[in-house]
Amino acid sequence: MNDIGKIGFPQNFLWGSASAAYQVEGAWNEDGKGPSIWDTYTKNPGTTFQDTNGDVAVDHYHRYQEDVALMAEMGLKAYRFSIAWSRIYPEGRGEVNEKGLQFYDDLINELIKYDIEPIITIYHWDVPQALMESYGAWESREIIHDFDEYCVTLYKRYGDRVKYWITLNEQNVFIQLGYYAGLHPPGVKDSKRMYEANHIANLANAKSIQSFRRFVPDGKIGPSFAYSPIYPFDSHPENILAFENAEELNNHWWLDVYCWGRYPTTIWQYLEKNGLSPTIEDGDFDLLTYGRPDFIGVNYYRTGTVEMNPLSGGIGKGSMNTTGKKGTTEEYGIPGLFKSKKNPYLEATNWDWEIDSTGLRIGLRRLASRYHLPILITENGLGEFDKLEEDYQINDDYRIDYIRSHIKACEQAIQDGVQLIGYCTWSFTDVLSWLNGYQKRYGFVYVDRDDHSEKSLRRIKKKSFYWYKKVIESGGENL
Ligand code: BG6
Repeated sequence: MNDIGKIGFPQNFLWGSASAAYQVEGAWNEDGKGPSIWDTYTKNPGTTFQDTNGDVAVDHYHRYQEDVALMAEMGLKAYRFSIAWSRIYPEGRGEVNEKGLQFYDDLINELIKYDIEPIITIYHWDVPQALMESYGAWESREIIHDFDEYCVTLYKRYGDRVKYWITLNEQNVFIQLGYYAGLHPPGVKDSKRMYEANHIANLANAKSIQSFRRFVPDGKIGPSFAYSPIYPFDSHPENILAFENAEELNNHWWLDVYCWGRYPTTIWQYLEKNGLSPTIEDGDFDLLTYGRPDFIGVNYYRTGTVEMNPLSGGIGKGSMNTTGKKGTTEEYGIPGLFKSKKNPYLEATNWDWEIDSTGLRIGLRRLASRYHLPILITENGLGEFDKLEEDYQINDDYRIDYIRSHIKACEQAIQDGVQLIGYCTWSFTDVLSWLNGYQKRYGFVYVDRDDHSEKSLRRIKKKSFYWYKKVIESGGENL
């Protein structure tokens, strides 16, 4: 499809940026906060890059006013942040911690003071450790009730001022890395347990949306999905079949449940045959249908390319590049279904993430045509090494190029008919990258710290800060 005419971005488009509690806040045990699974997991040597953790992170908990003032200076229209469940419920359930609630009240009010739309992510991976200990967190149906209680507490407290809500951030990532790859807490490597935990997370997601309708009737809610649209390596029918398998297993497996309340047929059949399908109880599918969101939150970084993978001797789990040494990612796959393949047409970052702005346009169109829902881009950005020059300049032109091309793709998708509510970059300040430490930076604002020392934690505006400011000022005209 060619680009005919120019529609541009809607007037009220949410030009935003995003973060997550564990990656920015620090203050991991202050003001009554209980530990989360990440507070404990990162203390086990060898689990993260250089054993980095979020104990201090970028100290946003103490510096949120300074950070919000920088957002205001940039002209940001929206800020997406997550709430740390164990700040609100230190034990995951039971007694509420007022100081935790107050922190987010203050943050929200500060944002509103500058006309920045707060977007709350209810869950960004940091389940309270107490729930892991008492019933295995996402592996028990007890969490559906506890998560709902936590959500309702937030709806009641912030629903008067916050319109946009994200339920679960990247369920597909925290479930797969936590229960299959064993790289996130609880470090499990078991496909059956993964599919069971995933189904429970689906139910918790749907329940939280059902409650939202009661407590925040005028608000908008949806999950954020880590969306990598899939390409076939070439037109060999076996590779097309591999593409169908990957698209269904990696994407529709979650999105069909969110939007339609049902699992895709062929993958369900595959899991049944292999003894991996989740346990379904009476009423599960009724609940799932209540979970239809108002919008799909999309976290987009890259596409995936696949080819056939033989059942016997095929490639299984690969390994991720968490060091920034280019070319160290290993192919991965599921024998009999598909395996990943490097796309020869795309450049990649130092962490081997392929850069593909057209893939964003393709993905947005696929979602819009399949689910007929508005879309909010809740994350998009470039993780790279940044160099602090002697005169306190950070010339991150590569980040500007990346974001510029992706904003253009958004504009093209809007022309194609996609109803796009907003675009949040990842991230505003530099943050802790869960498995990659502090050296993998995403922000418009550099934070003076590294993997070994908190240093001054000073905030320094990068070149991309000034560039994005102009983009927002011009409503996306001035790229
Ligand atoms: C998303 C997460 O997966 O991607 C963020 O929602 C994360 O929390 C971001 O930081 C970038 O990933 P990474 O691994 O480069 O930090």
